[in-house]
Amino acid sequence: MYKEIDLFGGETARFAYKEISKKKNLFTDHDAFVEKFEAKKTTDDCYTPKAVFDLVLDYVNENCDLSGKKIIRPFFPGGDFEAIEYQPDHVVIDNPPFSIISKICRFYIANNVPFFLFAPHLTLFGSDIDCTHIVVGGNITYENGAVVKTSFLSNMFGDAKIIGDAELYEKFKKLEAFGKVALPKYEYPDNVVTVSGISWMVEKGVSIKIDKKSAKHCRGLASQKPHGKTIFGSGFLVSEKAAAEKAAAERAAAERAAAEKVNAMVWELSEREIQIIKSLG
Ligand SMILES: C[S@@+](CC[C@H](N)C(=O)[O-])C[C@H]1O[C@@H](n2cnc3c(N)ncnc32)[C@H](O)[C@@H]1O
Repeated sequence: MYKEIDLFGGETARFAYKEISKKKNLFTDHDAFVEKFEAKKTTDDCYTPKAVFDLVLDYVNENCDLSGKKIIRPFFPGGDFEAIEYQPDHVVIDNPPFSIISKICRFYIANNVPFFLFAPHLTLFGSDIDCTHIVVGGNITYENGAVVKTSFLSNMFGDAKIIGDAELYEKFKKLEAFGKVALPKYEYPDNVVTVSGISWMVEKGVSIKIDKKSAKHCRGLASQKPHGKTIFGSGFLVSEKAAAEKAAAERAAAERAAAEKVNAMVWELSEREIQIIKSLG
């Protein structure tokens, strides 16, 4: 099964697997099969809000010739992108599981399937995939609340290896700013500790330790209840002493963040790298 999309974002679910005999369990219990694919949102899965998908669809439509093409979305729980019978008029535009993105791109390149895929921004250049790396780094708030810097990989942009697209970045920025997909940024009191708060400090090189006796697990504050909100990913209420230590660690992290900007390390090219660069067209 895969989802087929028209240029206006309308979706149709279709079945088209090859070598069905190898997958005989797929069709023995059709209802269970379909149910298995219905949105089971785990924290590992980042589902794409429609506004984000539409923006991407528009971008591809503006930059590539999609006339006469069928857009398909093969990635969903229980899906098997390798088993789909891709047709010559199929174009894959989707947000795939990032953990196997290199494998997915290589599969599509080897099978001449045109694709435009969401990709993890920070590791976009992690594998030398023979396609175009579209650097956007737009913050996308996925439906599970995760905010992930996202770029794209595509084999529909000819010889381009890297495209840094400021216009697309701006569009993502606006989309978040208009609040169409953005979650409100919450401010918590010092006595509330969230995983994102701690990881922000750790990323800035500031460690922190809070003892068991100083912390009580908390899924949400009473003040959030009337709004139907909870602490995203849960958190801990901490003692006054731990809260003061946390506040001090946050200040230290903020100072480090400011210092990092000033003391950027300058990396230089070796002779060999200079020669490689000279040899490039
Ligand atoms: C990042 S989520 C995105 C889901 C959806 N494409 C969207 O844009 O909202 C990736 C999905 O791919 C599914 N997936 C994992 N391995 C897959 C595979 N081999 N073939 C197809 N889908 C797969 C995951 O279960 C997950 O639902």
